Amino acid sequence: MSNPLQDSPDQYALRMVNIDKYFGLVRALTSINLDVCRNEIVGLIGDNGAGKSTIVKILTGVFPPTSGELYIAGRKVDFRRYNVQSAHRHGIETVYQDKSLGEKQVLWRNFFIGRQIVNRFGFIDVKKQKAIANDIMLNTIGFRGKGITVDSTVSQLSGGERQGIAIGRAMYFEADLIVLDEPTVALSLKEVAKVINFVHKIKEAGKASIYISHSLPDVYEVCDRFVVLDRGEIGASISKKDITLKELDDFLLEYAHGRKDKARE
Ligand SMILES: Nc1ncnc2c1ncn2[C@@H]1O[C@H](COP(=O)(O)OP(=O)(O)OP(=O)(O)O)[C@@H](O)[C@H]1O
Ligand SMILES: [Mg+2]
Repeated sequence: MSNPLQDSPDQYALRMVNIDKYFGLVRALTSINLDVCRNEIVGLIGDNGAGKSTIVKILTGVFPPTSGELYIAGRKVDFRRYNVQSAHRHGIETVYQDKSLGEKQVLWRNFFIGRQIVNRFGFIDVKKQKAIANDIMLNTIGFRGKGITVDSTVSQLSGGERQGIAIGRAMYFEADLIVLDEPTVALSLKEVAKVINFVHKIKEAGKASIYISHSLPDVYEVCDRFVVLDRGEIGASISKKDITLKELDDFLLEYAHGRKDKARE
């Protein structure tokens, strides 16, 4: 039986503790303490170069931090053995704007890149893969009656739909934490709305997410909490229930002004 009085580490999908990252002499991250609860959508906000993608790359196994600790679902990560594949095994998936999907690939194949289902003879189980891909498209991401089937190619999809496929894949593989680093860059408003809808589905599915975007209204709509990153340091963490979009916008403006005033002193 779990003890509700105990601060169980399992309440967190992710915990970064005192993470520092240097690139040569440049200190990109300073003492980052960032928690994401299970089923929490956290928006990471900050100017260009604030360190958002660097945080993402550390937790998705692209490179290790210079120092600090990372816990995934309560388990401490050993950075000597941590890479993109092991991040997948730990239930962390990343959805990139372009790189995650091959243009000419048919969708059912795309769903299973690097993780093919094989039958007992070692051949790819095409029928099963198609059936699963179809189920994800209809039921997880809701591609209904759009003329897109599992045999369509990636190049036939709009930008927002591609994000949907990548998110659907992450959800199918039972990712506990789905990281979205600028998923709406270069998308039309209508396409952005689709991506936002997919993020709502991540929340409904009981999963957690880190959502990074320069569009404050989008971040506000999908996230439960906002973490402000300022030149490699966490400047604030604000729950959505404590702030309106207008107040968040004003806060960020004031924050930036405060910084300038400080620099002038
Ligand atoms: N591989 C690298 N080598 C050297 N410096 C790097 C590297 N990656 C990032 N940096 C530096 O670290 C800092 C943080 O960069 P990062 O890409 O994390 O910012 P960001 O918040 O994602 O910015 P943006 O909003 O523009 O995507 C920047 O000063 C950047 O120049
Ligand atoms: Mg970035």
